[in-house]
Amino acid sequence: MVNTTTTAGLIGVVLLARHGDRTEYYQDPNTFNATQAYITPLGSQQEYELGRFLRDTYLNPDSPSFIQNISTDVVNIDQLAVRADAGGGNVILDSAYALLQGLYPPTKKSEMTLGNGQTVLSPLGGYQYIPGELTYMQSLEFWQAPSLTSWMDCEYFQLHLGRLYAASAFKNMSTKAEPFLTALKPYLGSVDNNLTNIWNIYDHVNVQYTHNKTYYETLPATFLEQARYYANWVQNNVFTDTVQNSVGNIAIRTLLPEIYWALGNMTQPSNKVKISIQEVDYKPFMGLFNVTNATVTDPDIAGIVDYASVVAFELSQNSQGQHEVSLKFKNGTQDSEFRQLKMFGNTSITLDSFIHQLAWITINSTINWCFSCNQTVLRGCSVFNYSEDPFLHPGT
Ligand SMILES: *[C@@H]1O[C@H](CO)[C@@H](O)[C@H](O)[C@H]1NC(C)=O
Ligand SMILES: *[C@@H]1O[C@H](CO)[C@@H](O)[C@H](O)[C@H]1NC(C)=O
Ligand SMILES: *[C@@H]1O[C@H](CO)[C@@H](O)[C@H](O)[C@H]1NC(C)=O
Ligand SMILES: *[C@@H]1O[C@H](CO)[C@@H](O)[C@H](O)[C@H]1NC(C)=O
Ligand SMILES: *[C@@H]1O[C@H](CO)[C@@H](O)[C@H](O)[C@H]1NC(C)=O
Ligand SMILES: *[C@@H]1O[C@H](CO)[C@@H](O)[C@H](O)[C@H]1NC(C)=O
Ligand SMILES: *[C@@H]1O[C@H](CO)[C@@H](O)[C@H](O)[C@H]1NC(C)=O
Ligand SMILES: *[C@@H]1O[C@H](CO)[C@@H](O)[C@H](O)[C@H]1NC(C)=O
Ligand SMILES: *[C@@H]1O[C@H](CO)[C@@H](O)[C@H](O)[C@H]1NC(C)=O
Ligand SMILES: *[C@@H]1O[C@H](CO)[C@@H](O)[C@H](O)[C@H]1NC(C)=O
Ligand SMILES: *[C@@H]1O[C@H](CO)[C@@H](O)[C@H](O)[C@H]1NC(C)=O
Ligand SMILES: *[C@@H]1O[C@H](CO)[C@@H](O)[C@H](O)[C@H]1NC(C)=O
Repeated sequence: MVNTTTTAGLIGVVLLARHGDRTEYYQDPNTFNATQAYITPLGSQQEYELGRFLRDTYLNPDSPSFIQNISTDVVNIDQLAVRADAGGGNVILDSAYALLQGLYPPTKKSEMTLGNGQTVLSPLGGYQYIPGELTYMQSLEFWQAPSLTSWMDCEYFQLHLGRLYAASAFKNMSTKAEPFLTALKPYLGSVDNNLTNIWNIYDHVNVQYTHNKTYYETLPATFLEQARYYANWVQNNVFTDTVQNSVGNIAIRTLLPEIYWALGNMTQPSNKVKISIQEVDYKPFMGLFNVTNATVTDPDIAGIVDYASVVAFELSQNSQGQHEVSLKFKNGTQDSEFRQLKMFGNTSITLDSFIHQLAWITINSTINWCFSCNQTVLRGCSVFNYSEDPFLHPGT
């Protein structure tokens, strides 16, 4: 491909970041309703490191991905937009805070002089508070915003789960997994050991292995890896779909508008936001890689992304003045660099083409979500009139 990107740096970046290490997280395999989880010190460290990595990439004037005119040391709060998906408890919000601590660490440059001439520095050596949850650090509770946690209370999503678990490919995979799941039984406590429950199986093994010394020392070699293999396969089938605009892709379909709007706003001369961060869990990554055809050129990314993974939509302008988007991915703390992905076979595509390719699968409003899920009551759906809905009233 011809690199038409100018060398002047980026205009801005939209990031999807996965939360860090956390306590055990149970998800009902038939609804994906979930319990609370909390971030651990390991998790905050992972997010902090991710923030440092993003700082080196986007806030360092010597980096090829430096963002034009961005404030490098003292945060300019108008340049950041941060949203956290609160569906699984505080872990995602707390992850966003830890990431921001690495992005804009404490600095003496934030010192201020008072009216009486005294100088003051905030605690912890100039810690930079990213204040005002309501203004630009939004935490979205799932019942308020179907754009995040859009798979919850979504009837068609539950039908999709039922179809998946009944499919012959799933039955075959269950048969293949059976000897392993039987051998794993002594390490599962009270967790059911069938393939339908593989998310909870993998999560239990992973959390225990990470935090419990006895468990770490007794779990047979390869068991964590095998559990991950089956969890990757099942979750990838749950959160993608054979048809791009089908409900399996719902986690990314409801996030796409935020991505278009953030990128679209960055092209406007009056715009101030240069980094837009959506802190989420693993689900939208799978749908994103599926609907952009990124998995066609990189098949190995069709799985669960590690904690503190990040996807970047980098916005630049080419020599013809067109805005272009490029997709990059870093799979948790094990990858030290970004990996360039391809969308629809291309390293970089125009913003117009990006939106054009995906517009038809996008869910951009609550009513759109209600229709796409056959939900007429919960999450704000009860206010709409469904008398014209061809799905509820065939033939009208
Ligand atoms: C950066 O600032 C310069 C000078 O103020 C301006 O000409 C340019 O358009 C700005 N670029 C961006 C991407 O904001
Ligand atoms: C989801 O789980 C919570 C408890 O974690 C429970 O209060 C709520 O009723 C459940 N919702 C559904 C739809 O099952
Ligand atoms: C499942 O296994 C059966 C028997 O081996 C086979 O006929 C069938 O094609 C398999 N289904 C899929 C989707 O792979
Ligand atoms: C598999 O595990 C799930 C989740 O615990 C449970 O609801 C289901 O009944 C189990 N299925 C079988 C066949 O045991
Ligand atoms: C740690 O693992 C051991 C061995 O599996 C288990 O008996 C113990 O209950 C675990 N401890 C905690 C706190 O989960
Ligand atoms: C998207 O996922 C489905 C399985 O849900 C798969 O059949 C399809 O090949 C995937 N598409 C791409 C481009 O990877
Ligand atoms: C800017 O963002 C708002 C929502 O925040 C959206 O309605 C608008 O369409 C966006 N503008 C562009 C040019 O994408
Ligand atoms: C991320 O890395 C893990 C191994 O640490 C692997 O199991 C997983 O498939 C990778 N995920 C993606 C999306 O590349
Ligand atoms: C996406 O990949 C599929 C094969 O999985 C191919 O048929 C389709 O043409 C590709 N779409 C684009 C826009 O590249
Ligand atoms: C990808 O690049 C090819 C060749 O330059 C071009 O024909 C195609 O339109 C591009 N696809 C998208 C989605 O921009
Ligand atoms: C939502 O998408 C539809 C087309 O699918 C479009 O007509 C409408 O303007 C979009 N709404 C917003 C708020 O972007
Ligand atoms: C959608 O929900 C309605 C009840 O609200 C039900 O009668 C209808 O069968 C559902 N449609 C499908 C396709 O499941």
